[in-house]
Amino acid sequence: MKTSTAIKSVQVTDKKIGEGVLKVHHPFMSLTDLSDEGGNSMASYIVRGGNRLAGDVTVSGSKNAALGILSAAMLLDGACKIENVPDVADINVMIEICKDLGAKIKRDNEGTLLIDPTSINTHEAIEDKVRSIRGSYYLLGALLARFGKASLYMPGGCNFGTRPVDQHMKGFEALGAEVSLEHGIIHVEADKLLGEHIFLDVVSVGATINIMIAAVKAEGTTVIENAAREPHIVDVANFLNTMGANVRGAGTDVIRITGTPVMPAGSSYSIIPDQIEAGTYMMMAALTHGDITVRNLIPKHMEPLSAKLEEMGAHVESGDDSIRVWLDENEHLKPASFKTMPYPGFPTDLQPQATVLLCLAEGSSKMMENVWDNRFQYVDDLKMMGADIMASGKLAVIQGGNPLTGAKVTARDLRAGAAMVMAGLAAEGVTEIVEINKIERGYERFVNKLQSLGADISRLDR
Ligand code: UD1
Repeated sequence: MKTSTAIKSVQVTDKKIGEGVLKVHHPFMSLTDLSDEGGNSMASYIVRGGNRLAGDVTVSGSKNAALGILSAAMLLDGACKIENVPDVADINVMIEICKDLGAKIKRDNEGTLLIDPTSINTHEAIEDKVRSIRGSYYLLGALLARFGKASLYMPGGCNFGTRPVDQHMKGFEALGAEVSLEHGIIHVEADKLLGEHIFLDVVSVGATINIMIAAVKAEGTTVIENAAREPHIVDVANFLNTMGANVRGAGTDVIRITGTPVMPAGSSYSIIPDQIEAGTYMMMAALTHGDITVRNLIPKHMEPLSAKLEEMGAHVESGDDSIRVWLDENEHLKPASFKTMPYPGFPTDLQPQATVLLCLAEGSSKMMENVWDNRFQYVDDLKMMGADIMASGKLAVIQGGNPLTGAKVTARDLRAGAAMVMAGLAAEGVTEIVEINKIERGYERFVNKLQSLGADISRLDR
């Protein structure tokens, strides 16, 4: 048995882009994505800081799992029901993209989608909206599995550095597909998909999910080694298995997919709670010397954060499907060192929020970003609010304890935007956060949930 597969390299080509000619050496290695332009970018949040947050908050379904599962649903040979789908902008865009493909999608009641993909009539997803979200790239795997070919705009999403898709392409090529890029559109095509051994060069959530989806109907067995282990990878695998697939090992670094020619579907599946949304509220409790019980989460998924919160001096009490976090009025947060890593390490998507927390911990803390190469853009906004942070490359050094003061700041991306709301909650005076469309890509009923915990926050439409 081979332990890795020879990968055909993508050809060096000269591509015509508009009037010009762009030399492309490895088209999938170096493309920086577009920032998200969806939603009303003129709206803002007004936060008056100083309130202690307390009470219960219920976590919504995982956005990133929903993106994978909605895409995976597009390869099914029958209808299915998906529950606990979050009502956030990225998912609503994804639903529109799937409808454009020809899928019939109906919202049954709050959070439940009835999906019939059997009416899909195209392998092309080349509308502008495809470029506005990152998760649309899972449609490459799904349409490849369904039609043996797919064409899709290079995806967008949060802009925190170069976001290559070479590992996705390496996987598709290993399965027997030809891959090319023309005018910003990725084409993948195979006469027949055949199971293979694929060793990922980097631990990539997206590549793991995309290859897993593509391999579901391939002939034979596909083995993904050095696979990512994030909770939403397990969720996509569980969804596929519920619909008739044979995926084993998701949640470990070796995933085995034995091809199933027909995926009958006909079942219902409920999406896991959002680990990142849950983590954001857990940190808000410690930040505001509050007392929040975060409900409908999976405590195991929160362990990397729970451990750090305890190290910083916050109290964390786990229940079966809830976690209570609190910090008493007379207690202080302690400085700490964080390193973001693939799961089960500390999630990069909680990095900006944790940095805000470290701003309140008296003393020197470090934040090491190991996943993305440009995820400290929000630091300038925090500095404007009085934070003492030196960020260079992958490292930010935070001298905590300086009081934060309200200012007009920008949501640079989804999670950095949530971090700005946190900074506003802790700051003296009023903070205005602009470009909140980025926050609303991933936080369901953010303002309502925060208000119910006692935050002074409102949404201003211009
Ligand atoms: C997903 C999440 C994102 C999160 C990230 C890491 C979705 C929609 N987005 O993004 O919120 O921040 O996981 O937990 O689920 N890489 C390559 N080649 C590739 C693919 C990735 O070199 O083909 C590199 C990336 O540059 C990055 C690292 O691998 O440094 C991790 O990226 P990946 O796990 O793929 O992130 P996404 O799936 O895009």
